[in-house]
Amino acid sequence: MNSPYSYLLWCRDFSGTSVVARAKTGPCGFITGYIRPGSDDTFFVWQVAVDPSFRGRGLARRMLDALGDRLAPRGHTYLEATVTPDNTASTRMFESFARARGCPLERTPLFGTEHFPEGHEPEELFRIGPLTAAVPAGPAPARAHAARPRAARPAT
Ligand SMILES: CC(C)(COP(=O)(O)OP(=O)(O)OC[C@H]1O[C@@H](n2cnc3c(N)ncnc32)[C@H](O)[C@@H]1OP(=O)(O)O)[C@@H](O)C(=O)NCCC(=O)NCCS
Repeated sequence: MNSPYSYLLWCRDFSGTSVVARAKTGPCGFITGYIRPGSDDTFFVWQVAVDPSFRGRGLARRMLDALGDRLAPRGHTYLEATVTPDNTASTRMFESFARARGCPLERTPLFGTEHFPEGHEPEELFRIGPLTAAVPAGPAPARAHAARPRAARPAT
């Protein structure tokens, strides 16, 4: 996680490329993303997080689909993200997204351990695209279904 201040700034300046999922009980997931400067066809997914009690129900996929459906028609047809080798859930999530869209997923090394202060895993770049129409998912479980991904708004 980053500082609350950084999330407030993010909601103010990058809501068009971010998603917040809300359940009756409050926020239950989010994606922060941005259009890569100098690479207008690419949106970078910086963070994806789902509240632990909502995981494993397809919510991250629904948020990624919402973002892809919003951005691809505007010409941002490639999704990039970085993933650490130990993050199986994240790897599977992006693989699932690429598979459902029927488009390639390229993996290349981006940041090695030498680029970070000690103790940080390397970050591998995932590049997915060009994005095509989503393959309809199966029916979502009730609670995940109640969580509606929306454009991020600043907290009040
Ligand atoms: C990664 C994360 C966002 C996934 O959220 P989620 O809502 O549980 O994911 P979904 O239910 O949409 O699952 C998407 C796919 O990933 C797979 N998956 C999700 N969690 C998994 C896990 N722990 N192990 C293996 N596969 C997993 C699902 O099976 C699904 O694949 P499928 O469509 O082939 O069945 C969530 O685990 C999380 O918040 N983790 C902590 C933050 C993080 O690591 N974020 C990513 C880097 S910024």
